[in-house]
Order: sequence, then C-alpha cells, then structure tokens
Amino acid sequence: MGIFHNVSPDIAVDIGTNNTRIYVKDKGIVVNEASVVVARGGDARSIMAIGDSSEELIGRSAGDVRVIHPLRDGVIVDYEMAQIMIHYFVSKAIGSGRVLRRPRVVVTIPGEVSKVERRAVINAMQSIGARQIFVVEQAFAAALGTGLPVYEPQGNLVVDIGGGTTEVALVSMGGIVLSHSIRVAGNKIDEAIAGFLKKQHAIMVTERVAEQIKLDIADIRPEIAPEHMAVVRGRDIATGMPMTVDVNMKKVSESVHEPVREIMDAIRWVLGRIPPELAADILQGGIYMTGGTAALPGLDAMIATEFGVPVSVARDAGECTTLGAGYMADHFDMLGGANLIGK
Ligand SMILES: Nc1ncnc2c1ncn2[C@@H]1O[C@H](COP(=O)(O)OP(=O)(O)OP(=O)(O)O)[C@@H](O)[C@H]1O
Ligand SMILES: [Mg+2]
Repeated sequence: MGIFHNVSPDIAVDIGTNNTRIYVKDKGIVVNEASVVVARGGDARSIMAIGDSSEELIGRSAGDVRVIHPLRDGVIVDYEMAQIMIHYFVSKAIGSGRVLRRPRVVVTIPGEVSKVERRAVINAMQSIGARQIFVVEQAFAAALGTGLPVYEPQGNLVVDIGGGTTEVALVSMGGIVLSHSIRVAGNKIDEAIAGFLKKQHAIMVTERVAEQIKLDIADIRPEIAPEHMAVVRGRDIATGMPMTVDVNMKKVSESVHEPVREIMDAIRWVLGRIPPELAADILQGGIYMTGGTAALPGLDAMIATEFGVPVSVARDAGECTTLGAGYMADHFDMLGGANLIGK
C-alpha cells in the first residue's frame, strides 16, 4: 500500500475567474470552489479563508478584511494570492503529506492570452511542484468535455461562456482551427445589472446581489421576459443608507444587452471565417454552449435565432472544461508537443 500511496497522481487544474476545479485521474472532479482568498489587510501572511470557506466571511467582514479575486477576465492578476490559492486546492485534492507529491498537471488557459499571462499560469504550476505541465486551451477542453468528436476530421463549434471570458472555437482533428476569445462573460453581465440599478434606481448593490438578480432573469430577451417585479437590497448612492427598491425584471433583461451583444459579435466573428469544407458540419451540428453562463435563460434561443443554426447547452455546462482537461490527464502519456513543459 504505502509505496503506491506516494505515487504522484495526474491531475487537471481549471483555474477559472470565478471557480477553480480540480480533477484527479480516475476519480473525477474532487475540488470545485470559488476562486477567492480572504485576508486581513489583503496581506498574504494574514489569510483567513480560501475558496468556499470564505463564504461566511464575505459581506459580514469588518475593518481591513479584504476579499481578493486572484483572477480577473480569465487571467491571473494577483500572482502571490493565486499561487497560495492553487496550492491550497491542489493539496486538498491530492494531499501534501510528508513525501512531496509532484503531480503531472493538465492546466487550462483562455484563448487569447499574452506570453506573460501564460507564463504566470505555468509558473504557478511549477511553484506547487508540478513535474510536467500540459497547457490546453479552455475551448478545446470544453469541446472535449462535452463529448464532441474533437479528434475526428469533422468541425465542432463550441462557445464557452464562463465568468471572465467567452471562448468561441472551431475544433477539429485534435486542435483548434479557428478561435476568438473576449474578456466579456458572466461578470460583465453582473456589472451591467449593477450599473443599471445605480443609474435607474440610485441604488448600489454588491457583486453577489447583482449576480443573484441575474440568476432570477426568466429570459434575457426583454420581449419574452414576463412582467415581474423583484425586490432588491442595497445602499442609497447619495446617503449610503440601506434601502430596497422594486425592480422590473423586463428592464433588467434590457440592461444586459451590451455584454450579450459582445458575445454575439464574438460568435459572428468565428462563424464568418469558417473554412468552406467545415461549414456544412456547423450548419448541421450547430453550436455547443458550455460554461456557467451557458445556462442564462434565452441565450441559447437568441443565438439560434440570430445565426440560424441549432444550439445545444451542454449538460453540466460549468464543468465541461475541467472534464475535458481531466480526460487529457487520464491519458497523460499520450500528450506531447510544444504545450508539454518539463520532462
Ligand atoms: N444558472 C445560471 N444562469 C446564468 N448564469 C449562471 C448560472 N450558473 C452560473 N452562472 C454564471 O456562470 C459564471 C461562472 O461560470 P464558470 O464557473 O464557468 O466560470 P469560470 O470557469 O470561473 O470563469 P472563466 O472560465 O471565464 O475564467 C458566473 O458568472 C455565474 O454567475
Ligand atoms: Mg472556465
């Protein structure tokens, strides 16, 4: 037993803007927690909570307690906190006993990142002791994770809409043929809702309240959304005093128009560049939506109407990227090429 217990496992790490998920070979997703660190004074030496255990501190924290999101728009913006957070999640997934465990890691990154942003992810993996790292683009992992035949010569179109980025990619023969990534997704939709409330109702709401209102949207197409009012809690922008307002949810649907438009434009960009030999596959097979924001009611129908192709929302849409990267971790020995780092 003992000796096998110390064999380093192969894992997949999907560090999302909002959620980090870790897959362990032959086990599945064992960690799925918020990408958040809470620290006194925002100081890495005074960490109070990481991930889901931050939940109870957020909102009721007083004084100099800071809530840190180490990622923004899909990329690491606070390297030190990201490293601590990832180390914590990986230890939780595979243990960090006396014997140093040096896993082989498949790690996901968004499509259009700078060399520095890519390097930060690789460095973070090396800092937690990864002995080999395979970097996979999120859209490819998402297509694989939703069960599309990505290694076949046919074309597959995936739209992965998470919290920080939207990835649109045409996938075929084991790679990405064409893709476009924008830093607009669920969080920008929350911001649009917060902006609308501020402007129309002079109320300031927290990120989570804005997200909660989004989750109450019955349909993002205002012409379809039913007439219904919701009570929203926040603070008066003039006095800072707590207040509540009645908000028309049809108007909330209207308020997310801009970020939704940007997502549509990203899809249009890719659709307009599909090589003729793969176009028939897409017209027939349509678009597959993954990522947490794929569940936004009416978004699938809106895309189908706009582009005249069938649209399917993946089952467990939020987990597709991790499952795809996990599938690659299950077959780590078959990975190679320029995306494999370390030996
Ligand atoms: N039922 C739902 N309807 C609409 N949006 C949802 C739903 N469930 C989750 N979301 C949104 O999905 C987003 C999180 O998705 P996901 O976990 O895929 O993001 P992520 O992987 O952390 O981010 P990224 O991949 O962009 O870096 C959040 O904006 C959340 O509000
Ligand atoms: Mg993601």
